[in-house]
Amino acid sequence: MIEDLQDNEVKYFAHHVKQNYGYDFENYAISSLKRRLVRILSLYHLQSIEKLLEQIQKNKLDIHEVVRQITVNTTEFFRDPTSWQFIRSEVLPHLIHKPNINIWHTACSTGEEVITMAILLSEANILDKATFYATDINENVLEQAKKAEYHIRNWDLLMENYNAYQPNYPIERYCVKHSDKFFFHKNLTKNVTYEKFDLVSDIHTEQYDIIFCRNVLIYFNQQLQNEVVSKLANCTKPKSYLVIGSKESIILCKAAERYNLLSPKEKIYQLK
Ligand SMILES: C[S@@+](CC[C@H](N)C(=O)[O-])C[C@H]1O[C@@H](n2cnc3c(N)ncnc32)[C@H](O)[C@@H]1O
Repeated sequence: MIEDLQDNEVKYFAHHVKQNYGYDFENYAISSLKRRLVRILSLYHLQSIEKLLEQIQKNKLDIHEVVRQITVNTTEFFRDPTSWQFIRSEVLPHLIHKPNINIWHTACSTGEEVITMAILLSEANILDKATFYATDINENVLEQAKKAEYHIRNWDLLMENYNAYQPNYPIERYCVKHSDKFFFHKNLTKNVTYEKFDLVSDIHTEQYDIIFCRNVLIYFNQQLQNEVVSKLANCTKPKSYLVIGSKESIILCKAAERYNLLSPKEKIYQLK
């Protein structure tokens, strides 16, 4: 079993995949990309990157499935509950009077972050004027997100995070449990458009009141973080917001000078 890879093998993989399949992992952080590739080789009992590429070329392995394995899709409802408390108390009051609210979730995974935001807006009675654009590089997770149904194994974490965000308020107001799943009310996601979007290569010109780019920058190297944060700044209306993951930072990005950091702990920024 392969336990490690050389940097040049990882770079060779990224180069080959970019040339042949259009997915660009060349500026992903090499250490985490390497970990994912080692995992993939082990999963498919392959001895080298050459063998992996050969399997893809011969259609014995689906490139989209490999991409799914490379991208880390871990997510949670109300992930980092204090971030949502901050959004509720410091951000929503500035959005409440707008005639419409444009939101972009740039790496939405299976949709938990989108539903979380929809619940916040619903509780503030402004859900109806919100339009969500929810995107991800991975089409499989988008298909799951569209269904807004989740396995019951995620229930305890939902309860834990929601109670940390807001104790003594029943989350059952927003969803129903049935068999081994729970389903969110369709009303929450009726204004959501789910679409494939690659933060590395796709271009977008729409302007947003709030952009979520949580827990994805961490997989990019500094150069790519720079490019992506500049792209996002160009899509943010003046005085509007950027939310990144609480363990991420844009401090080394050129576009950081265009933002004020509102909350050092929650990593919520406002465009100047
Ligand atoms: C760890 S999840 C974060 C999900 C959610 N934002 C959260 O914070 O809970 C990272 C997501 O980024 C997506 N992703 C990775 N590379 C991407 C890219 N180049 N463009 C768009 N999404 C990407 C992955 O498919 C994955 O769903």
